Amino acid sequence: MVQDLTRPTASGNLPADLEAFWMPFTANRQFKSKPRLMVSAKDMHFTDADGRQILDATAGLWCVNAGHCRPKIIEAVSQQVATLDFAPTFQWGHPKAFELAERLVKWLPDGEYSHVFFGNSGSEAVESALKIAIAYHRIRGEGTRQRLIGRERGYHGVNFGGISVGGIAPVRKFFGSLLTGVDHLPHTHNLEHQAFSKGQPDWGAHLADDLERLVALHDASNIAAVIVEPIAGSTGVLIPPKGYLQRLREICDKYGILLIFDEVITGFGRLGSAFAAEHFGVMPDLITVAKGITNGTVPMGAVFVRKGIYDAFMHGPDNAIELFHGYTYSGHPVACAAALATLDTYEEEGLFQRTKELSDYWQEAVHSLRDRPHVIDVRNLGLVAGIELESIPGKPTARAFECFLKAFDKGMMIRTTGDIIALSPPLIIEKSHIDQIVEILSDVLGEID
Ligand SMILES: Cc1ncc(COP(=O)(O)O)c(C=O)c1O
Repeated sequence: MVQDLTRPTASGNLPADLEAFWMPFTANRQFKSKPRLMVSAKDMHFTDADGRQILDATAGLWCVNAGHCRPKIIEAVSQQVATLDFAPTFQWGHPKAFELAERLVKWLPDGEYSHVFFGNSGSEAVESALKIAIAYHRIRGEGTRQRLIGRERGYHGVNFGGISVGGIAPVRKFFGSLLTGVDHLPHTHNLEHQAFSKGQPDWGAHLADDLERLVALHDASNIAAVIVEPIAGSTGVLIPPKGYLQRLREICDKYGILLIFDEVITGFGRLGSAFAAEHFGVMPDLITVAKGITNGTVPMGAVFVRKGIYDAFMHGPDNAIELFHGYTYSGHPVACAAALATLDTYEEEGLFQRTKELSDYWQEAVHSLRDRPHVIDVRNLGLVAGIELESIPGKPTARAFECFLKAFDKGMMIRTTGDIIALSPPLIIEKSHIDQIVEILSDVLGEID
């Protein structure tokens, strides 16, 4: 079906037909009937096809932490693509992949993490981490440790391992029986005990104890790893209760279970530290990252492994491959160049410190929305916020989606999931932008049914 874009456009060179692109995680028919097309971006704003400035309140998809089209990253990527467009990393190498890995391990807390495995997305980082965890136990002679434990409402990307340990029903239910040997901890969200908490809720640390129940059920000798997001983002911003992550760490230690933090959205400054592990003072055994690693400029994901994990694999003849896993584009030169320039930008501009400094202002600003119509919770940490709306009976997601559309009409990009508005702006945000975000949302909430 041919779809004409009839609106006049600023750039004048838009595609005449939007049909062939099967858009991911999108209401395709709704979008194609009234598209929201971005044609350029700079710092805190996109420019849309009508030439309007759109304030980015979500750092794209939680990835553009340093803001859009940053000069150092543009320069690095342009130079790299003209110098070495590609080199394999299976049995070959190129300098930037090693340079980046060395630099990243120095960024990680306390020199605790010794090695980095590269992929191209958060989903691939998660698959890599789950596979490394299972293989690690096997290689140490504990091959019965194969079970994986995720959490209800968790999101770990879209590949089979990730959706198996993930806990969002629509992401799982269409795709068959998934991985066997997977259990889920309860999620930590409870409005009765936690509504309108500023920062970490006081209630809920005991929910980690459910891991003891799973150990009693299966025996620790069969359990490889637990994976959680320190802050669950895609399910609508669930901040971990005080003491919860510490408790998970203690129970994992007690039974020799590996703990994986999926830091695809919390990594690279979102909470004011380089990683949430540092922010919460809880060191997992593996950390998955993506998004902010390259400021969203070039796809890249990575797994950081704690000291000892890599060494466990370094046995057998020198010429034997130690881990049969990897992607053609693991450590792609252009992604590495983008990541190195991104790390420079974060450091030179002190963006993580800036997040720390702004987080109180952000907190008070978003909580000022608590009495607006339909709002049943506001939650926040670092430069993250979730605003939960009461669902329209029989029409879950409809109210938040209406907010999303109205916010776009008013020149702002937000993200919604279920009936929750999730905010995660670039870390270069100014107080005036924060005021603007809250003002637009306040207006939108007053206008919707
Ligand atoms: C915690 C978490 N893990 C994994 C992913 C998947 O990342 P990607 O979309 O890059 O595959 C996401 C994406 O939002 C995420 O939030």
